[in-house]
Amino acid sequence: MDIKDLIQAFTEVFGVEPDATFFSPGRINLIGEHTDYNGGHVFPAAITLGTYGAARKRDDQLLRFYSGNFEHLGIIEVDLQDLVFKKEDNWTNYPKGVLKFLQEAGHTIEAGMDVYVFGNIPNGSGLSSSASLELLIGIIAEELFELKLNRIDLVKIGKQTENEFIGVNSGIMDQFAIGMGANKQAIYLDTNTLEYELVPLDLGDHVVVIMNTNKRRELADSKYNERRAECETAVTELNALLSIETLGELDEVTFDEYAYLIKDANRLKRARHAVSENQRTLKAKDALVAGDLKKFGRLVNASHVSLEHDYEVTGIELDTLAHTAWEQAGVLGARMTGAGFGGCGIAIVQKDKVDSFTENVGRIYTEKIGYAPDFYIAEIAGGSRVLSRK
Ligand code: GLA
Repeated sequence: MDIKDLIQAFTEVFGVEPDATFFSPGRINLIGEHTDYNGGHVFPAAITLGTYGAARKRDDQLLRFYSGNFEHLGIIEVDLQDLVFKKEDNWTNYPKGVLKFLQEAGHTIEAGMDVYVFGNIPNGSGLSSSASLELLIGIIAEELFELKLNRIDLVKIGKQTENEFIGVNSGIMDQFAIGMGANKQAIYLDTNTLEYELVPLDLGDHVVVIMNTNKRRELADSKYNERRAECETAVTELNALLSIETLGELDEVTFDEYAYLIKDANRLKRARHAVSENQRTLKAKDALVAGDLKKFGRLVNASHVSLEHDYEVTGIELDTLAHTAWEQAGVLGARMTGAGFGGCGIAIVQKDKVDSFTENVGRIYTEKIGYAPDFYIAEIAGGSRVLSRK
């Protein structure tokens, strides 16, 4: 969608031109999965798929939202004084949460606004359409009301919306990747301290192919909260002898020594994943910086194995994509990305093998699963930003 189309779409819905237009990306995660709420490292990157927005300040206290993805819902109206979760307000609960927490943080939202959004992140794909929308609303408010906002504070407000308004206990990875993304760079983030490093995603002759299972992540939210609780219980058990806040503080040797304190086999596997995945993420980042792409790819594969067998968040669709990808010529590595239970995987594929890759993986997946996957080349680009001003 270009700026002209965006302005036109806004004008058709609201009858006036917008004050400004915006874009907020989606994200992939290279490695470091289910580590962000365990105090570990993640290695995501913002992509060119994302959510477009156009907005205009109003004179009254009305918020009027329209999504080009849900045209049948029409304009959803909300009073700025009534920012509470209501199921019937559908997707606008995300903007409502962001505006509420901006106000609570002391930022003045002095008036209502008209907001048009349109996203091209495939629905339910696990490429973070919700965090993309949260950050989009954040930068719209920042621009229209001239807020003095630190980007990392906005990232935290996105997470707070997810946790306290929507009720998903997610970590900070998605909002951080989306708010802080940079062109052709991945973000190596310590989720414990929020220290981060931008690392050029230099894959030589290779590209990142996003593989969409086209299975919606239906179980994701409930199982997500369950995994998180399992890890917290494991920390409590380990603290019979240790004194840790999160599993991210442990290396594999220390974990192994104290793992007997965890009293349930499943919990032990969950904790082992959190520890090993964090260590893999450190190694993968070093391998990428050193230009050792083969090693980087093997670690990506190992991440999938751990998510499949220890964390158990993959499922037949993601496993079929990853396992089939591993067997194709020109593939450095492949794994699920995001929360799991459907959604997308990624594969790092030699450029001149992409066609045979998508053909083979597409065919084998369709034979086994009964419907086709989709493939997109991930372009790594900047974070949430203003596109144009009136
Ligand atoms: C979802 C959450 C993130 C992260 C991933 C798993 O995307 O929103 O915070 O936990 O799952 O790595």
